[in-house]
Order: sequence, then structure tokens, then C-alpha cells
Amino acid sequence: MPDENPTPLLFTPMTMRGVTLRNRIVVSPMSQYSAVNAEPTDWHLVHLGKFAMGGAGLVFCEETSVSERSRKTYDCPGIYTDSQAKAWRRITDFIRTQGAASAIQLGHAGRKVATRAPWDGFAPLSEADAVAGRAPWSGLAPSPIPFREGAMVPKEMDTDDIRTVIQAHVDAAKRSLDAGFDVIEIHGAHGYIIQQFLSPATNQRKDGYGGDRAGRMRFGLELIEAVRAALPDSVPLLFRVSCVDGGGWGMDDTVVLAAELKRRGVDVLDCSSGGIEGPLTLHIVPRVPGYHVPFADRIKRETGIPTMAVGLITEAHQAEGYLRDGSCDLVALAREMMWDPNWPVHAAAALGLPKPHELLPRPYAWWLQRREDVRALGRGV
Ligand SMILES: Cc1cc2nc3c(=O)[nH]c(=O)nc-3n(C[C@H](O)[C@H](O)[C@H](O)COP(=O)(O)O)c2cc1C
Repeated sequence: MPDENPTPLLFTPMTMRGVTLRNRIVVSPMSQYSAVNAEPTDWHLVHLGKFAMGGAGLVFCEETSVSERSRKTYDCPGIYTDSQAKAWRRITDFIRTQGAASAIQLGHAGRKVATRAPWDGFAPLSEADAVAGRAPWSGLAPSPIPFREGAMVPKEMDTDDIRTVIQAHVDAAKRSLDAGFDVIEIHGAHGYIIQQFLSPATNQRKDGYGGDRAGRMRFGLELIEAVRAALPDSVPLLFRVSCVDGGGWGMDDTVVLAAELKRRGVDVLDCSSGGIEGPLTLHIVPRVPGYHVPFADRIKRETGIPTMAVGLITEAHQAEGYLRDGSCDLVALAREMMWDPNWPVHAAAALGLPKPHELLPRPYAWWLQRREDVRALGRGV
């Protein structure tokens, strides 16, 4: 007899190496531009803490820089000092007390450094900003091409720079463990340094780190090898990729990259898109519900690597459907979580889980369950 009420896959735990997530709901990284001296603050504690309280399985902090000069803005956080790790520790400890796992997304903006916030259009810092104490600085990139007009020309990386940036990721990964993170993700998407190497639009090198696809993948793969080697076997390693970037990198490339990443110990491919060229608002992929799911699906089927899909996933049955189809193993939500930090509880209710409130902390759960019981009595249930 088939089980008439199987547990929704969304609420089935998932084990990645030594970490078991209580469900498949992931809070996608969301930069806040609110760090002070590159350290997370009370803002981050509340911002991230409420997602853990709301029942998510894995809570990502925002893209966090591996070095001072790799930050996008003066207000981005880092994890290149012990003091920053300590500030993160307070947040990861809290997330754990709420039954969620925590993830850090390690990033290096490459040529996309020294900008204003998104609500100022990510404009490159100018003379006026310098006068106000926020001088621009130049980034590093595979080729000396500024990311837009008015931005400083990045330094073309030599092999020493390549080694330094890889080592910065290794050091940041180790420090992330001191900071209490359960899961590490390398940000290989959205036009930042790894993708700058991957994409022919931004990588015009003539040495072994450029040229054909294998050459353009070399930096990212060496970086992953170094980070994986520095992590205990029990720590899951994820990679966010721009499956298509609008600058010459496409899905056939991503499938090849995914297989290489899997071979090197990446546990989940986090499927996103875009970011290499054009304005912030340029959408490479039409914004329909679940717009990255077809990418996650193809990558999973062709390489066998578990995938995480993100992008306009807002409904419980929608998310459950993607997992049931086998298109992805994890669903990540960003803006919907800002709208409704208790989305997991509401999803549990929508999917018919018997006691959805139990996902909430006890000081909430007991009262809300009682309210439901009283309401049911009122309805004569
Ligand atoms: C406020 C905000 C900040 C974001 N910051 C990051 C980030 O730090 N790193 C990243 O990879 N993606 C970032 N993203 C992209 C999201 O993680 C996600 O991929 C995207 O918003 C699509 O998911 P959604 O439709 O559920 O919002 C950000 C999105 C938002 C809305």
C-alpha cells in the first residue's frame, strides 16, 4: 500500500558529510551592506537569527570577503581577522541553538570592488566618496578590464597574485570553522573573481589560466582543491555558479565544471546566473518562478552532483514539486524569506505537516499551537 501521507521531501533531513540539515529549506545569501569595520553586527544577528528561529534547515550568511581589498563595499563583512571570526561566532552559536545549520559564502569581488551599495546602483566610488573618507581602491582580475565605466582598472593577476588569492580562501575557510560555521560555500558566481576567470568576456589571458575552457577553469579548480584539502572530511563544501552568464559562459560549460568540482569534493552545486557584464538589473534568465530549476535539473542529471536551486521559489507546493521531480536536492529562498522569515512553518502547514508550529522556538510554538487548538474548537473540529 502506498503511504497516503508521506513526509514532504521539503521536510526530510539531508545529510552532507558530517552535517545533517533538519529540512531542505535554505536561506540564500543576502548581502546587507551593514557591516562595521568588516565585522557583522547586531543587525546580522537579528537578520540571520530570525531565519533560524523561523525553521530553515540551513541559514547562509551573506558573501563574506576573504581579504580586505576583495570587499565589494566598505560595508561588506570579512573573515580575514580573528576578531571578525569572533563576531561571526556569536551568530553561528545562536543559529545552532535554534536547530538550524549555518553556512558562510566566501567571496572575492575581483574587479568588482570599491562600489557603493545596490540602492546607489553599485556605482564605482568616486572622488566625492574619497573626500568623504571612502577612497576607491583597485581590484585584481584575470585581465585588466574595468567592470564598468568609471571603475578603476584592476591589476592583471600574476601567478603570485593567484597563489595569494587561493591562500586567502584557504585561510578564510579555516577561520570559518573557528567562527562555528557548519558549511562552507565558495562564491563562483555573479561576476566575482572565479567567474571572471571562467568567462571569456573577462579572461583574455594568454597563459595557462586563460584561453580554452580548461585554462579558464584552472584557477577555480585549483582554489577548490586547496580549500577542500584544508577542510576536515566532515565539512560540506558548496560552490555557487552562474550557470549562464551572458558573456560567453553557458550551460555546456557549467556541466563540465560541475563534473570537475564533484571530482574534487564539492558536495552541492548552488545554481544561479548572471553578473559578468551589464547593469545590476540585467536579467540573463527570464524571471519566471523557479527560474534556475531547469539548470539545477540538467546538472544533476548529467553529472550526479546534488544541486540547490534558487530564484523566485515562493510557494510550498512549488518547492516540494522541484524536490519530487528530482530537479534539485535543496531549495534556497532569499527575498521570500525577507517577506516571511517564518516561511518554513507556513510551508509545513501548507504541506499538511501535523504540528507545523513545532518548527518554531518553544516560547512561540506552545502558544501558537494552543491558539490553533482553540480555533479548531471554535470551528467545531
Ligand atoms: C538583498 C539581497 C542580497 C543578496 N546578496 C547575495 C550574496 O551575498 N551572495 C549571493 O550569492 N547572492 C546574493 N543574492 C542573491 C540571492 O541569494 C538569490 O540568489 C536571488 O535573490 C534569487 O532568489 P530569490 O528569488 O529567492 O530572491 C542577494 C539577493 C538579495 C535579495
